Amino acid sequence: AIPVFTTLNSLRAWRRKASDDRRTVGFVPTMGALHDGHLSLVNHSLANNDLTVVSIFVNPTQFAPHEDLATYPRTLPRDLELLSALSYTVEDSEGNANTARERTPSAVFLPSVQEMYPSGVSQQVSTQKGTFVEVKGYGEQMEGKSRPSFFRGVATVVTKLFNAVEPTNAYFGQKDIQQGLLLRRLVRDLLLSHPDPEHLHILPTARDAADELALSSRNVHLSPAERHFAPALYAALKAARDYWDAGHSKDDTVKVALQSFEKSRQDFAGEVDVRLDYIDMNDVETFDVVDGNATSAAGKPIILSGAVWLGTTRLIDNIILGDD
Ligand code: PAJ
Repeated sequence: AIPVFTTLNSLRAWRRKASDDRRTVGFVPTMGALHDGHLSLVNHSLANNDLTVVSIFVNPTQFAPHEDLATYPRTLPRDLELLSALSYTVEDSEGNANTARERTPSAVFLPSVQEMYPSGVSQQVSTQKGTFVEVKGYGEQMEGKSRPSFFRGVATVVTKLFNAVEPTNAYFGQKDIQQGLLLRRLVRDLLLSHPDPEHLHILPTARDAADELALSSRNVHLSPAERHFAPALYAALKAARDYWDAGHSKDDTVKVALQSFEKSRQDFAGEVDVRLDYIDMNDVETFDVVDGNATSAAGKPIILSGAVWLGTTRLIDNIILGDD
């Protein structure tokens, strides 16, 4: 079984030994309810580090009081089983299969709320006490517009997790692109060395093989009809990408995305409660909204992203334009 550390002290002792042994440590922070998207990050870490730590912590401060902290899926026994089943085969330098070794996840960090928030915890910014981390100017757009204190909670908990694990490499998913880019900026701004900005990696979004829905822990909340409709968001983003690549303006490109989404919605009329939160295009460096007249001729990478409510479940997805 994988060692599970629930206290900072036990994790630190393990980490000290890894340093003494000159081992590289890969880190995948999660909130559990693991799926193949999480596992793809863990596999990547196994392939590129001597040791791999996965954290499972449902972080209260990134949920607003009205959000889904209480109903966020929790599947710890299954998470541990999924992680135990992973392995990566390391061949020796001659590629000799006989001396190949199996690399499996080395440790799970499963801290309590108390351990992560020694000064106490509140989901309400106005009543929080203690130390919080804000990446100013980068947490207010896109997801931050709909979820104003979300990135403050994420930046705070990930700073703590980085201080606890001191990873050589850390892995995040493109599914949450603003999160990954904001954290890379945080690492740079706070002069962190474990990881340093070059060792914070953002890996491709894992999707359902049949209909390309981005894998998400929250997908389990979808009714059959909602699940059936859910790929419409990514389909709309793809239609827009093609239109943008053909040289059309930002305004017209977003219009195409909205039309594509609206058509899917009408095809499902009455069956699902759909509310589109946003579809927009933002600069990959500044997160500024792209000018309506801009075209792909400018050659700058752009985030095309969207968020949708299906009943009480909120899903997000994105495509990076001009990034090849
Ligand atoms: P969580 O939603 O559990 O996601 C953990 C990591 O898995 C994140 O880096 C996320 O981008 C990545 N991920 C999720 N779905 C993915 C998919 N379909 N393909 C590839 N990667 C995917 O994101 C969080 O937790 C939290 O905000 C956290 C960073 C742990 C801080 O609390």
